[in-house]
Amino acid sequence: MAIRLGDIAPDFTAESTAGTIRFHEWLGSSWGILFSHPKDFTPVCTTELGAVAKLKPEFDKRNVKVVGLSVDSVADHDRWKGDIEETQGVGLNFPLLGDPDRKISQLYDMIHPNANDTLTVRSVFVIGPDKKVKLTITYPASTGRNFDEILRVIDSLQLTAQHSVATPVNWQHGQDVIIVPSLSDEDAKKKFPGGWKTLKPYLRVVPQPK
Ligand code: BEZ
Repeated sequence: MAIRLGDIAPDFTAESTAGTIRFHEWLGSSWGILFSHPKDFTPVCTTELGAVAKLKPEFDKRNVKVVGLSVDSVADHDRWKGDIEETQGVGLNFPLLGDPDRKISQLYDMIHPNANDTLTVRSVFVIGPDKKVKLTITYPASTGRNFDEILRVIDSLQLTAQHSVATPVNWQHGQDVIIVPSLSDEDAKKKFPGGWKTLKPYLRVVPQPK
């Protein structure tokens, strides 16, 4: 069954390029990203894994653990690693799960038979410290994802969790944010003593909290 926002991310145990991963235990109290790619030794996937490896310090800064997956074996991932380093200029610095029996792919509904009945699509799941799914994205095999956008969403989710603010269209880090509608003016005064700009009673704009 499809996984929906707010669901508990299904737990699993699987082998990875960094050894056995018990997913919930591995996540601990961190945020997490679980993403699938269709196949090892394919061009778009090679560029994506290089991009994620380059962004690893940004994920670390945000307390986010990243793990990738495809239906290939860990042995295949290990053989592919050298190509990623050679062509993308960065070594794989996060675990890749092997899923040759498709256990996790099926658990997370990452195989869409009308697209391809054996390979995973490009799925992304962002998981909060409460193990709940905060974001799902599905891209086709032929389109590499924009992992800067995934970082942007994580910044937004973490601001919401910590400061009761939401982020407007095309928001970028440092720009003004919006006080969530569920916060009354009375409670907002305590959280935002510097005040805010009311464009409409439901549209209250404040500088991004630090
Ligand atoms: C790729 O990563 O390049 C790719 C994988 C599967 C289908 C199409 C492209």
